[in-house]
This record gives sequence, structure tokens and C-alpha cells, in this order.
Amino acid sequence: MTEDVRAPDVKPPPERLYGRQRGHPLRPRQERLLEEALPRLRFPLEKAGTPKLGFGKEPAQIWFEVGFGGGEHSYAQHNAHPDVGYIASEVFHNGLCSLLTRLVPVEEEATAPIPDMLRLWDDDARILLKAMPEASVDRLFLMFPDPWPKAKHAKRRFVHPHNVELVARVLKSGAVWRVASDDPTYQAWVEEVMGAQPYFDAPHP
Ligand SMILES: C[S@@+](CC[C@H](N)C(=O)[O-])C[C@H]1O[C@@H](n2cnc3c(N)ncnc32)[C@H](O)[C@@H]1O
Repeated sequence: MTEDVRAPDVKPPPERLYGRQRGHPLRPRQERLLEEALPRLRFPLEKAGTPKLGFGKEPAQIWFEVGFGGGEHSYAQHNAHPDVGYIASEVFHNGLCSLLTRLVPVEEEATAPIPDMLRLWDDDARILLKAMPEASVDRLFLMFPDPWPKAKHAKRRFVHPHNVELVARVLKSGAVWRVASDDPTYQAWVEEVMGAQPYFDAPHP
């Protein structure tokens, strides 16, 4: 019996994958974090073609996280792997502020030293991934992405045949793409999409 490995029938991803960028109104400290600290930590798009030069020190490897939420995972990975240049992407302002709060003391938003090996990307992760050279990233994390559970929203899921190709292009041969989800619909979707692509070995979870 031959296995059915057809790619799911899904529309191309839309321009915008994510929902709101703002939740609660921002407090003054949060406004300062976005206005004064974020520009100093933002990954410079002009270095996308030579991404190791986008950090304070040249990293041994580059790891990329899509949609870090409150930043707990990014922060822990960055602290645990001091040689790695970590690009953490998130579009939701409250999430960006949560991570920035850990990195920058109060009243020092414009002056506190920033970590050499951590850079933030506050726009759609796909923009930066598209601008980076092929085989330039050593590891990519997609932790508990928005599940978009309705079938009509499947095109918004980050695990999508188009994005799989995009991720495969920037990852080095042998690199790991770690996807975590506790949503059964999304888990089944990932198995379906990854079962029908030629780039990754995708073991069953
Ligand atoms: C469900 S949350 C999960 C957050 C976090 N990874 C966690 O485990 O708690 C998904 C996050 O991905 C962000 N996101 C969605 N699409 C994105 C994209 N294309 N680029 C960057 N961030 C994105 C959303 O803003 C949202 O905060």
C-alpha cells in the first residue's frame, strides 16, 4: 500500500498571519520600553544578508524563535546558550514589553547595556526569514503557535506548505525546527503538512 502524502489543500498564507498587536493600553514604562529600548535591541534589517553581524559579538550559531509571546522560552534559551545569537520575533506589543521588562531595568530604557547575543524582531517573522540567506540558521522554534482552529483559517497557521519551504531555505542542513503545540487540531495539521513535504524528517511526536 502506498502512503498518501499529498499536501493539504490550503490557500496561500495571507499577508498578515497574526491578530491584534495591542491588548491592554500600555503603561508609561511599557511605552518607554517600546520607544527607547526596543530600537536598541531590534535586529537590523540591513544585516539580514550577513546575520552574524547583527549581534554585539559574532555568534557561533543563530537560533530563531517565531512568536515568543511573553518571552519566557526565548529568555531561557538565550541565557542557557551564551554562544548562540538568538533572534526572538513577536508582533504583540504586550509580549514585546514582557521580554523587554526582563532585559532592561526601570528608568534605564535608553541607557542600560543590551545583551550582545539577543536581538528582537517586532514584525512578521517571515519578513526577516525571507531576507536572510539560505542555510544561515541553526535552529528554529515555533512554540505553541496560534492554532487558528477553524478550517477556513488554516491558511493563517504558521505551519503551512509555503512557510515550510521558507523555513527549510534558511535552515542549515541537519538543523532542527522545533514545533510545540497542545492543540489537537494543530497537532494533526502539523503531521499532515510535515508528512507531505520533502525537506524535513518529521518523526511522530
Ligand atoms: C499563541 S501565542 C504563543 C506565544 C508563545 N510562543 C508561547 O508559547 O506562549 C503565538 C504568538 O505568535 C505571534 N505571531 C503570530 N504570527 C507571527 C509572525 N508571523 N511573526 C511573529 N510573531 C507571530 C503572535 O503575536 C502570538 O503572540
